[in-house]
Order: sequence, then structure tokens, then C-alpha cells
Amino acid sequence: ARPVWLDCDPGHDDALALILAGHSPALDLLGVSTVAGNETVEKVTDNALRVLAAAGQPHIEVVAGAAKPLLRAAPLLCAEIHGETGLDGPLGGPVLPPAPHGPLTGKAPMVMFERIAAAHQRLKAAAGAGGANSSSGGDGSGSGKEQPRVALIATAALTNVALLLALYPEVADMVEIVIMGGCLGVGNTGAVMEFNIQTDPEAARMVFESGIPLTMVPLEVTHTALATTSVLQRVRTHSPTPFLRLMVDLLMFFADTYRTVFKFEDPPLHDPCAVAYVIAPHLFKTELLRVDVETASSLSAGQTVVDIWHQSTQPKNCTVCMEMDVARFWDLQIEAIHAADRR
Ligand code: BDR
Ligand code: CA
Repeated sequence: ARPVWLDCDPGHDDALALILAGHSPALDLLGVSTVAGNETVEKVTDNALRVLAAAGQPHIEVVAGAAKPLLRAAPLLCAEIHGETGLDGPLGGPVLPPAPHGPLTGKAPMVMFERIAAAHQRLKAAAGAGGANSSSGGDGSGSGKEQPRVALIATAALTNVALLLALYPEVADMVEIVIMGGCLGVGNTGAVMEFNIQTDPEAARMVFESGIPLTMVPLEVTHTALATTSVLQRVRTHSPTPFLRLMVDLLMFFADTYRTVFKFEDPPLHDPCAVAYVIAPHLFKTELLRVDVETASSLSAGQTVVDIWHQSTQPKNCTVCMEMDVARFWDLQIEAIHAADRR
């Protein structure tokens, strides 16, 4: 299974991304970091721990990351969508029981680096062993082949990821970064700004300019991952367990707020789309493009400026997802929820 690290701010859709990352047989979830975004870092950290415990994975480590963006005074927060706890249920307040233990005590970038570097070593060793077998006695190195990379999935503001790259530049050769964030056109928390990028534009800019293999799953794609009534029925099954009822409660709360705030009939499950890309990239249509992050404008700081007509002279720096096989996406997500339920 592919080693992945998930940086998130649960958040209803982050909660489902955690379940998909933790229960997809294709992935090995190394650990989880949290960052202020949908709610304060204390609340989203507590939520990540609750989700992992409820989903039968209390052993997966969580480390609390940045409490505020790199340069901006405070995170935007998003109680109008995720409720006061960041993960409210239909009656208000938390639906998931408290977790049995707290987060790790270290600094997030340090823990992320340690876990990613160790997993990358294992990947290299495995690739070396494979190379030696198939290259008639070579040592498996120096073949000029791209080494496999750990997937660093970010479904929140990019503050922790930017700090990781700044403090440990050697991580550039170890990871591929896949984010839920940005948009080609219309935004959600600004006319042309998506929430995760708008929360910390400077951090996003550092990540987009890092030169590290980067994929973005923008709003245009995540807005096709709608949790419709028939999706809810599949999640619930004919004889729902307490866990499945909790999942449906979370999705119903999310549906309510999306109906109120955005007039969406069904809510878009943004964050799991980024996890799905790592599991099954063939489910996505993509284009390699130049993407810049606006940081200066008072009107549009946090906009992802996507060069769809290839007019920029700057190097192309981002694989932009354009379309997703929505039916297969839901198969993956629902299978993961049911796998979590069986634990
Ligand atoms: C993003 O913003 C957050 O509220 C969601 O969790 C998602 O990561 C969508 O714009
Ligand atoms: Ca999120």
C-alpha cells in the first residue's frame, strides 16, 4: 500500500477524507497533522482524534500543527458550514464520542518529516530490491528512474506544508503533494477564492512555487462529488449500525448548512476527492498547467490563477484535476465507510 500523510482541519468533508485514507486498501496512512482552518487548531485536532477512534483506528497518530496562517493574523474559520465544534451533528454540538487519548506532543513539521523520511526510506529500499532483481545484479540505484514518493495529502490551509518545506528542504525529493484547494473560476469563500487557499495565501504560494510534484483538486471537481439522497441511502444500508448512523448524521448536518449558505441541493464532499486521486488517479482527467497564487491583492488574495490557455512563460507547476469519475469516487468512499464500520 502507498504511504500517505494527511494534513487536515476536520471539518465534515475532512472527516470522510480521514476515513477514506485510513480504510482504503491501497493506502498506508502514516499519520495525521491538523491546522487551523474550519475551526481552531484545538478543535480540529480533537475532531481528527474522534474520527479515528470512531472509525476503529485510535492507534493512528495525530499531531497538532499551526494555530494561525504564516503571515495573516488569524484563520478565517467556517462555523457556518461545520458548526461550532467544526464537526457538529444535526442537534448542534458533537456527534462523535471523545477520543481515548490526545495528540502527540511534538511540533507538526518535525513529526511529519520524521514519519515521511522513514516511509521514504522503506520505499527506496523496496524499489532498490525490485531494481536489483530486474536489472541482472545491479544495486538498484543510479538507474536514472524516478524514485517512488510518499503522498502528502493536504485538505486544509497549507501552513503546515509550507513550514515542512521551509524547515526540511530535503523533503522535496521524498513527496508528491496532492491538495484539495483552489478553483479555476468561481470561489466559495470569496468571489474567486477557495477557502483553503484563502486561509493562508502565502503558505499556498510557497507550496505552488516549490517545484515539488503537485496536484490540485479544485472546486470545479469537488462540486461534482455531491452527497445525494441515494448516496446517503447507500451509506446507511438497510440495517445501520451506530457508526453508520453517525456518518449519516454528519452528512445530513453538512447538507443542511450547504443548503442554507450556498443553496446547494446536496453538499459537495470536497476533501475525499484529493484522497481518491492518490488511490486512483485514472479516475481523473488532468492538465499540467502553470498555477500562481495571488497574495497581494486586497480583492483576491488567495485566488489560484490557473493558466488554462498556456499563455504563461513560467514553468508548468501543477497537475490540475478537471473532471472526476463520480460514480467510482462514491464506490471508493462508501466501501471505506463500510470497512471502517466492520472494525
Ligand atoms: C474546503 O474548505 C473547507 O471548509 C473544507 O473542509 C474543504 O477543505 C473547501 O473549500
Ligand atoms: Ca478541509
